[in-house]
Amino acid sequence: MFNLQHILLYLSVCSVCLTFAQVENQFIYHGFSGANLYLSGASKVHPNGLLELTNISDHQIGRTFFPFPFKFNKSLSKNFQSLSFSTNFAFAIVPKLPALGGHGIAFTISSSVEFPGALATQYFGLFNSTSGNLSSNHVFAVELDTVKNIDVNDIDSNHVGIDVNGLISKESIPVAYYSDKERENKSLELISGNPMQMWIDYDEEDKLLNVTVAPITSLKPEKPLLSTTIDLTLVLLDSMYVGFSSSTGVTTSYHYILGWSFNKSGPAQSLDISKLPSLPPRRESSKRTDLRIIIPSITVSVVLIIISGIVYVLRRKKFEELREDWEQEYCPQRFSYRDLYTATKGFREKELLGFGGFGGVYRGILPSSNTEVAVKKVSHDSKQGMKEFVAEIVSMGRLRHRNLVQLLGYCRRKGELLLVYDYMPNGSLDKFLFRSDTPNLNWVQRYQILRGVASALLYLHEEWEQVVLHRDVKASNVLLDADLNGRLGDFGLARFYDHGSIPQTTSVAGTVGYLAPEVTRTGMTTTSSDVFAFGTLMLEMACGRKPIAPERPPEEMILVDWVLECWKRGVILETSDPRLEGKFEVEKMELVLKLGLLCAHPTPAARPTLRQVMQYLDRNATLPDIPLDGPGIGLVTVGQEVAGDCKLSFPTSNEYSGLSSTDSILSYGR
Ligand SMILES: *[C@@H]1O[C@H](CO)[C@@H](O)[C@H](O)[C@H]1NC(C)=O
Ligand SMILES: *[C@@H]1O[C@H](CO)[C@@H](O)[C@H](O)[C@H]1NC(C)=O
Ligand SMILES: *[C@@H]1O[C@H](CO)[C@@H](O)[C@H](O)[C@H]1NC(C)=O
Ligand SMILES: *[C@@H]1O[C@H](CO)[C@@H](O)[C@H](O)[C@H]1NC(C)=O
Ligand SMILES: *[C@@H]1O[C@H](CO)[C@@H](O)[C@H](O)[C@H]1NC(C)=O
Ligand SMILES: *[C@@H]1O[C@H](CO)[C@@H](O)[C@H](O)[C@H]1NC(C)=O
Ligand SMILES: *[C@@H]1O[C@H](CO)[C@@H](O)[C@H](O)[C@H]1NC(C)=O
Repeated sequence: MFNLQHILLYLSVCSVCLTFAQVENQFIYHGFSGANLYLSGASKVHPNGLLELTNISDHQIGRTFFPFPFKFNKSLSKNFQSLSFSTNFAFAIVPKLPALGGHGIAFTISSSVEFPGALATQYFGLFNSTSGNLSSNHVFAVELDTVKNIDVNDIDSNHVGIDVNGLISKESIPVAYYSDKERENKSLELISGNPMQMWIDYDEEDKLLNVTVAPITSLKPEKPLLSTTIDLTLVLLDSMYVGFSSSTGVTTSYHYILGWSFNKSGPAQSLDISKLPSLPPRRESSKRTDLRIIIPSITVSVVLIIISGIVYVLRRKKFEELREDWEQEYCPQRFSYRDLYTATKGFREKELLGFGGFGGVYRGILPSSNTEVAVKKVSHDSKQGMKEFVAEIVSMGRLRHRNLVQLLGYCRRKGELLLVYDYMPNGSLDKFLFRSDTPNLNWVQRYQILRGVASALLYLHEEWEQVVLHRDVKASNVLLDADLNGRLGDFGLARFYDHGSIPQTTSVAGTVGYLAPEVTRTGMTTTSSDVFAFGTLMLEMACGRKPIAPERPPEEMILVDWVLECWKRGVILETSDPRLEGKFEVEKMELVLKLGLLCAHPTPAARPTLRQVMQYLDRNATLPDIPLDGPGIGLVTVGQEVAGDCKLSFPTSNEYSGLSSTDSILSYGR
């Protein structure tokens, strides 16, 4: 008895070995139920076999690898363990918001399944801002990228890229496929939510890599999307893992893999579409695209019934708004949803100006007045506080100043709030300062912008009926109108209080790098903490760099400290923005740098008021001498203990261009 069992066990173990030996150079999965893959981070397999790399939560990493490494670079048996490989997989990217995905999927061959220090967002969970382009990485990836990230030289928000040891793609190309029937290239939208297939074939002999993409229903197109020579000899080690890595950022998508074949002994077998698991039913936000998946699988008559049903529901729901009695008094500030829908051409992707923590901002033209506006869509579910919130919006709408972005009004729907602002054709200031693809602002323009923002702040602090604290003054919240005048926007964190009373707040708000030290200590914001942030903005404008620059040498990392240090050494002008090429009035440059330092003084009492700032800028008063020694002028807010309920937003270095992860609701223009 014992012997028999023993033998049976032995046999079964052996057959497992045998099966694996046979498949060790190839595999094919239609769905991944029971596939025993190596899953890490957010990735999981649904009961129907669908592999989900990430869901739509922000800043996630999801990876999946075949559990055993493959032999790549051994010249023992030429065909068997060469560098050549072939793979075919079916994937789908379903964005949370119809027009905005984040960030994509990377087919990955790597020496390890661990990626220490790797980040989400544009780094795909494979690298971080410093770990790219090292030959010791041994990572080869083909990325399906749905976000344009300037810092890794992305070409657009819908491309395939070939990545060797880093994310600055060796080659990239907008996603398209060659239709054999129509004999032409057709573009494909990765974030359409529709399933698609990808083929990657590498031939060691010619060192030729082919990448091909097509809709799920197509056969492999005759012509690849991208065919490029690349030598992987130094990249692929003897033993390498194959799999996928995916990440989300502020914008998010579900990233799915439906099926996958991989082969080192010949072309990867084609997937049998009928055996692939289906995608979960779509949320209402993407009803229209949903149809495209349903249609092939059910009969025409059912489709007709569904279409008419959906059309009926859509018709009824399309323009539905929420209105309550208490809103009567706000009638003048209320826009109809139908008007905003028409203005933005149905919130078309093409009209999208930007995207903040809460939702997209769309350009529109109001049908009634023909005026250009920016419409911010904010998801807002809570009934609680809606009354106070709308009252606050209406108050903000009553602020009028030529250097403020005017809030024109709002509209309310179920779960959604729409805010209508003046349209600012030139976008936000940070793009002009920090991006190489925008025209340079000359010194006169910069001075003019600073003066404008200062006068807007003066209005908020002293000239309106209440004191308004902006609480989030920074370059990305300054928008530029058609004449390049600076206009302060984003009142998402603003607070109102009566003149003469003492502001009370326990939540820390603002952006790291612009936060006055006392704010992080006590949670209390005052007019002088706005002055502090403005001081930082002045230095940014003069020096053309961000308040905190981790990539710089330690002594230059903190802008305030660096400027102060240079001043002490008598070389303050060395900090001026190289893009100005020395074309500035020395006196005014010195004034801005020194006044910036004074405003960013760590002691609130030492900072000037905005009225004084205006006088200095207009040269109606002379800047007092600032004692250069004595207890530290200079900020060190980074890394400080932050108390209480936090509402911080961070500078944009880890996110894509112009977007920060700030959660201020009323912002527009980032
Ligand atoms: C996404 O998955 C994580 C766990 O990986 C979970 O905590 C989170 O709630 C999920 N988010 C959504 C929107 O389902
Ligand atoms: C980047 O990753 C490396 C490891 O690959 C790690 O040592 C380094 O600290 C990380 N850098 C950042 C900025 O996270
Ligand atoms: C990567 O490093 C190599 C050599 O060190 C260099 O030639 C190349 O320009 C770098 N590529 C990128 C994209 O930084
Ligand atoms: C299709 O795209 C490929 C790759 O980008 C290009 O080489 C080819 O010329 C295009 N063909 C047509 C018919 O446009
Ligand atoms: C890659 O594509 C080229 C051009 O279509 C073709 O000649 C070659 O055989 C392909 N190579 C592989 C490995 O698929
Ligand atoms: C791959 O094999 C070639 C030839 O045997 C060798 O020169 C190369 O160093 C190997 N590459 C790696 C990464 O081991
Ligand atoms: C791998 O290639 C071999 C030789 O062409 C073929 O017989 C086999 O079916 C392929 N397997 C897979 C999983 O693609």
